[in-house]
Amino acid sequence: MEIRVYRNEKEIGEAAGKIICSLVNEKPDCVLGFATGASPVPVYEYLTEQYNEGKVSFKDITTFNLDEYCELPKNHKNSYYTFMQENLFGKIDVNPEKINFLDGNADEATESKRYARAIEESGGIDIQILGIGRNGHIAFNEPGAEFTDEAWKVTLTQSTIDANSKYFDDIPMPRHAMTMGIGSIMKSKKIILIATGNAKAEAVKNMINGPVTPLCPASILQQHKDVIIMLDEAAANLL
Ligand code: PGA
Repeated sequence: MEIRVYRNEKEIGEAAGKIICSLVNEKPDCVLGFATGASPVPVYEYLTEQYNEGKVSFKDITTFNLDEYCELPKNHKNSYYTFMQENLFGKIDVNPEKINFLDGNADEATESKRYARAIEESGGIDIQILGIGRNGHIAFNEPGAEFTDEAWKVTLTQSTIDANSKYFDDIPMPRHAMTMGIGSIMKSKKIILIATGNAKAEAVKNMINGPVTPLCPASILQQHKDVIIMLDEAAANLL
């Protein structure tokens, strides 16, 4: 694990964004794994800026997102599909046919196989962006008895519901989501995990210095050979 500490979110966005842009310029048809939530937003701002300045084109990339809520139509304002449209995909020249999302309303087993096959057929994810939950989750793989493998339907924990329900102002937050499994995430060739703010400090400490255990799903990243952890000072506070 390579740990890097930055002064603020903007610097993290720029650092992660530069790694992505140089890959896209070198390998225009690369495969990028994207995450939702607040942590990666500065990265998406940097990518949009670089695109607007004509420094990069995303027209040949393939994308896979980590997760999607169940019990929500794809185009609902709180879906992760909509989040990605608003924060990145709608602002750059990505080919809509090459955007891949889990369908939170599909049959779990069929959808899991479909997503695993699609990732494999794309050649595999070159760079996967990750956030981390306050409880150490990555994507929506909540702490549990074992590390998961391919995509599956998760029952969200109270910690995740508390963290995300602020985004749901008119309907209750869904209690389930489809998420890429830990095994699929670990197959990514390179992983960049972003964590900012005090609320993440404990999870960051457990991920980096704790034992590898499904009770802190992010701790599995200790076993990946190419992971960069990008933190601000608050998130790195307990290291
Ligand atoms: P956040 O979510 O970036 O909105 O803090 C991260 C996560 O829960 O994985």
